[in-house]
Amino acid sequence: MTSALLPGHPHIARRGNDLTIEGVALSGLARAHGTPLFVYSKASMLAALAAYQRGFAGRKAKICYAMKANSSLAVLQVFAQAGCGFDIVSGGELDRVLAAGGKAADVIFSGVGKTRAEMQKALDAGIGCFNVESEAELEVLSQVASAAGKTAPVSIRVNPNVDPKTHPYISTGLKGNKFGVAHERTLDTYKRAAALPGLKVVGIDCHIGSQITDDTPYLDAMDRVLDLVEAIEAAGIPIHHIDFGGGLGINYNGDAPPQADALWASLFARLDARGFGDRQFMVEPGRSLVGNAGVCLSEVLYLKPGEQKNFCIIDAAMNDLPRPAMYQAFHAIEPVSARDTAPVVTYDVVGPVCESGDWIGRDRPLNVQPGDLVAVLSAGAYCMSMASNYNTRGRAAEVLVDGDRVHLIRERETTADQIRGERLVS
Ligand code: LLP
Repeated sequence: MTSALLPGHPHIARRGNDLTIEGVALSGLARAHGTPLFVYSKASMLAALAAYQRGFAGRKAKICYAMKANSSLAVLQVFAQAGCGFDIVSGGELDRVLAAGGKAADVIFSGVGKTRAEMQKALDAGIGCFNVESEAELEVLSQVASAAGKTAPVSIRVNPNVDPKTHPYISTGLKGNKFGVAHERTLDTYKRAAALPGLKVVGIDCHIGSQITDDTPYLDAMDRVLDLVEAIEAAGIPIHHIDFGGGLGINYNGDAPPQADALWASLFARLDARGFGDRQFMVEPGRSLVGNAGVCLSEVLYLKPGEQKNFCIIDAAMNDLPRPAMYQAFHAIEPVSARDTAPVVTYDVVGPVCESGDWIGRDRPLNVQPGDLVAVLSAGAYCMSMASNYNTRGRAAEVLVDGDRVHLIRERETTADQIRGERLVS
């Protein structure tokens, strides 16, 4: 039987006609667990993590998985067991880290809108660092920590005003974005942080955007951050760690981002040249650790030929896979069992949700019939974690494949699950 790896998806291969993940046939998983079904490869996640670990070999660095990319408990457990910390953006994400066996001390808390209650909860848990995003937040954190008799470890997120050359909705480090403190305000903000009670400055952080496929924006942002570290330390405020955020892209559609180890080799060349190579570093990768470790399996319900478009209607929709509707994002779509005979037709692949924006792929040549399964690729990041119940659709089930072991890590959501907590009026 022939076996071919899918380019950019090292643990997905076609064996004969059938798509497999870590050697396990996807069709069998769909039969056992139904569709839509997210399937993740543990080996693929660990391989992506290993690229970062190679990049940091011999350096002082902590990898904090940006769990917004995929916050399912078993996924967090994989990264906790592999020694990662976590980048969180809500009190709910902190609850998930702790439920998955992660340590609060390894948590950094990002986000522009932390509430007092979330700050309190994170202080009580003893998280490693608050990545503060504004002067106003700094004042509130100081009040909350002082009132609790605690000291909050803080880093200030710098907005380096660098263009990451990605989709505008996922670019975060430009002046017009809501994130971080403006480059020119940073030194004053650090002085304020150092003077406020209940705070201890421990680091500096930045994150310029997501799905970055080139190392130039990183190098530019790094230079600007290092200039600031020099200025802040010259003002007598030591910076213990430097956090470069996440953002490294993955291959969706022939994209060729640098591998994490190659990216960090070029970043360390610059860091060494500027005398910063032996500092404590942090990174917050999300997509690059999980994106290509997952697929979403879906059944073809109907084929609907039309004058202008042919539609292939599948049972996964924008509530399961929101990225095409939100960012016009491309996800490759592959038949799970390739047909040898039926004709290839160009389809818009769409879901059952009552919105014209509910499309998963446009103009895709496919050879499928009703009842066939398709795999939507690169579905490990920002799919399940962004899934909704729109149209009262239950969220999909999830499976983690680990060699020849298959774990159901999330049951399919029922309507009873969805309406729990709702009340009729009397
Ligand atoms: N750190 C911070 C502060 C972030 O805001 C983000 C992502 C990350 C780390 C992780 O970035 P990554 O390594 O995953 O690129 N929903 C969008 C992506 C939003 C990213 C938001 N921030 C999408 O589906 O493309």
